[in-house]
Amino acid sequence: MSNIILIGFMGTGKTEIGRRLSDFLDYSFIDTDSIMENVEGMSISAIFKEKGEPYFRNLETETIKTLSDYSKFVISTGGGIVLKEENIFMLKKLGYVILLYATPEVIVSRLRFATDRPLLQVEDKEMKIKEILAQRDSFYNKAADFKIDTSNKTPEDIVKEIVNLLPIPMK
Ligand code: S3P
Repeated sequence: MSNIILIGFMGTGKTEIGRRLSDFLDYSFIDTDSIMENVEGMSISAIFKEKGEPYFRNLETETIKTLSDYSKFVISTGGGIVLKEENIFMLKKLGYVILLYATPEVIVSRLRFATDRPLLQVEDKEMKIKEILAQRDSFYNKAADFKIDTSNKTPEDIVKEIVNLLPIPMK
């Protein structure tokens, strides 16, 4: 149980909170999307466009496999990582899985102008966000050891909340 894994929908703050949390705990930080971008030499949007979502999802699983020896990392993940049972299983073995969540309204306002989320490049972003949130709700809840509402809170407060809820001192 030597890592902290952040899961949750797009726009719930996984990357920003992950960086701050790793600084606070003196852990290293990685983001599974960034690993994939480096491996493929292209952006997540380009991977979706040129190779397709099934390829991206397999790459996500292969990426988690490469983390099995990691220790003292905060690992931020892509919002769809919970869609595969085997991913959830592997993430739980890596450490404490913390779900960051927010109200649909907050997510919509944070992602309103985002152009780097291939799943949200549709006319009605709000409807799409609500639709995907509903589809994924049970996956997130199944994967999470702990859950943190990030709506209307400062990053500092969210980091403190995470540190306080961990069952053992991680520092
Ligand atoms: C996705 C979320 C994205 C990225 C890809 C797919 C998803 O990551 O992995 O666009 O399926 O929810 P973030 O959650 O970091 O935006």
